Amino acid sequence: MEQTLVLIKPDAVERGLVGKIINRFEEKGLKIVAMKMEHISREVAEAHYREHRGKPFYRELVDFITSGPLVAMVLQGPGAIETVRRIMGDTAGTTPGTIRGDWAEGVTRNLVHGSDSPASAAREIAIFFGQGEGITR
Ligand SMILES: Nc1ncnc2c1ncn2[C@@H]1O[C@H](COP(=O)(O)OP(=O)(O)O)[C@@H](O)[C@H]1O
Ligand SMILES: [Mg+2]
Repeated sequence: MEQTLVLIKPDAVERGLVGKIINRFEEKGLKIVAMKMEHISREVAEAHYREHRGKPFYRELVDFITSGPLVAMVLQGPGAIETVRRIMGDTAGTTPGTIRGDWAEGVTRNLVHGSDSPASAAREIAIFFGQGEGITR
């Protein structure tokens, strides 16, 4: 069993797409093992996106992810990391049938985050969820 961190970003909360996005993951059989809504600080955003520090879009990314509440959740299932990435679609939202491909407004406002590797998943889950918040580690 694999676990991955999913963020339903502030644009999705604003646009009322939280339920539809969660449905896509649940309908594929991924299990929600932890979930919360949170308006994150710049410190948390910078920790989460540290690999992108120094890139041209970094400031805009941190501004955006801290612009309103998001929904953070841990999804679990066999191959959960890859399955979530496929359901999300590519970063720019060019793939029809995926969450981003169907609904994203742009590369910044692209609705969802999903961890890209087991190492990232472990690191990112620990940023958003503490011991005793419903996750078995
Ligand atoms: N060229 C870009 N211009 C603006 N924003 C970008 C760009 N590349 C990435 N981003 C933003 O930064 C986030 C993190 O980038 P990355 O990890 O490469 O993509 P992904 O979210 O698909 O894993 C993206 O989801 C997107 O919101
Ligand atoms: Mg990424």
